[in-house]
Amino acid sequence: MSTKPTSTHHRWAEGSIVYQIYPRSFYDSNSDGIGDIPGITKKLGYLEDLGVNAIWLSPFYPSPMADFGYDVADYCGVDAIFGTLDDMDELLKEAHERGIRIIVDLVPNHSSDEHEWFRQSRQSREDRYSDWYIWKDPRGHDKEGKPIPPNNWVEVLTGGPAWEWEPARQQFYLHSFDVRQPDLNWANPEVRDAIKDAMRFWLDKGVDGFRVDAVHFMAKDPLYRDEKPNPHYVEGRDTRYGALIHTNNHAWPQLYAYLSEMAAVLKEEKYKHGERFMITEAYPETHNRVDEYLEFYEGMDPEVAAPFNFEGLSLPWEAKAWRDFLGTFHKALNDFNSLCVASYAFGNHDQHRMVTRMGEPIARSAAVLLLTLPGMAFIYNGEEIGMKNGNIPADMVQDPGARGGDGRDPERTPLQWTAGENAGFSTASRTWLPITDNYKTHNIETESKDPDSFLSLYRHLGKLRNTSASIKHGEFEVIDTGNTYVLGYARTRGDERYIVLVNFSKKPVSLSLKPDLALGAFVVSSDPETMLVKTATDKVELRAHEAAVFEGVVTPKE
Ligand code: NOJ
Repeated sequence: MSTKPTSTHHRWAEGSIVYQIYPRSFYDSNSDGIGDIPGITKKLGYLEDLGVNAIWLSPFYPSPMADFGYDVADYCGVDAIFGTLDDMDELLKEAHERGIRIIVDLVPNHSSDEHEWFRQSRQSREDRYSDWYIWKDPRGHDKEGKPIPPNNWVEVLTGGPAWEWEPARQQFYLHSFDVRQPDLNWANPEVRDAIKDAMRFWLDKGVDGFRVDAVHFMAKDPLYRDEKPNPHYVEGRDTRYGALIHTNNHAWPQLYAYLSEMAAVLKEEKYKHGERFMITEAYPETHNRVDEYLEFYEGMDPEVAAPFNFEGLSLPWEAKAWRDFLGTFHKALNDFNSLCVASYAFGNHDQHRMVTRMGEPIARSAAVLLLTLPGMAFIYNGEEIGMKNGNIPADMVQDPGARGGDGRDPERTPLQWTAGENAGFSTASRTWLPITDNYKTHNIETESKDPDSFLSLYRHLGKLRNTSASIKHGEFEVIDTGNTYVLGYARTRGDERYIVLVNFSKKPVSLSLKPDLALGAFVVSSDPETMLVKTATDKVELRAHEAAVFEGVVTPKE
């Protein structure tokens, strides 16, 4: 174990709990069936009780909502559906009064086709904004005289062509996502300046940082060459986007120069004292996942920036996979730069619900893991009450991504507040997505009264994380539990230590830990039966899929 000093200053991001709010689905204060910003302000007390240190707000900017706000028509405004700039000021003020930070979503790769920049850009090749998007001539014309796109790239959401013809310019524009989300041209310094100005606009308002969307796509092959077909693609099994191997449409090295420019804004004299921070969204794609994460830390500035860690979404739920990953990843971060902040997410608005993916017992175990690991712990709204995927009838489908696969509506259904009408989310006659059918049992009000509920587990873990110096800021060390199915790790700071044991097996296990790993008092368990009662002896029994936290005994060093 390394001997880092224990009295160093910690930035707020370290050891924080960040709660992701999908504004459309959090709380509807004006009865239009869609959540809004005053609705968030109204419910801050709930987040405070959960132990939330920061909120990440998914987009609330003016938008035609082709991709539910990830198509931004004005980077410096608030869509009327969600409220006003004054409402944002009020939210920032009230959240900060409660000690809750706010980071906002920043979507730099593309704007809406209704953004003024694009409206002008598409009009002519000589416009002030003509070079702000990615415009290319056709590769040729087909037999009917139709222009052929410049290359074979496809867009992420549906796997359809990534190029759209613009008659006024007689050129194609690139859209890595929906056709209504034209890619901005990051090679153009004016574009970079404009996005950095948008950052400053929000920083001046007092936001604490950004979650930066789809960053991989900001840097493409400068020659715009074709992609190769994916020989492993299986139609029906894979999303249509997976039919090609994507080596050219994203993740070119220039990315780090762009991200560093953005990170530098956070360190400008005016902002640096506020510890502003940004987290980038890029799903690792190779087997060298630790290296991919490391590349981001190295390529940005770990003092103010970190990449999301998406292992919670992709690693198999197996002890060995987690043991290997955690051991390697945290050692790499430590060895590289002690300023690196890990940032774990097990769910978000693009991923099926944890309970649907893993089942309840594992989702509860994963909550223990998430909230006892170092760095930032991201909770997507609703995961804390064990929400499952909703069933979306065909006539209520909203997500443009539903045209290319499963769609993301099931994980975006309204947050379940009560067992009452519309799950207490809204008093409208119809909500923008249907309420998921388990709301009578899985809702905040009911679960608040049940000591064994998901919510009670999250609250225990939230309190533990916020009151324990070792879980918030301590050393992380994988320990040998003597059982291949059980992951164990210690979080230690000074003479405070906690030991976390996670049984990945569907069978109960009995462990005899080594004498130097003596367990102290039992703290909390993922299992509803033993959540608050468990005796720590030299033999530890763990139920199927149970994760448990114990106090650890720190043996004095010789
Ligand atoms: C990632 C966002 O999380 C997703 O919801 C969106 O569709 C794409 N980026 C495009 O902005």
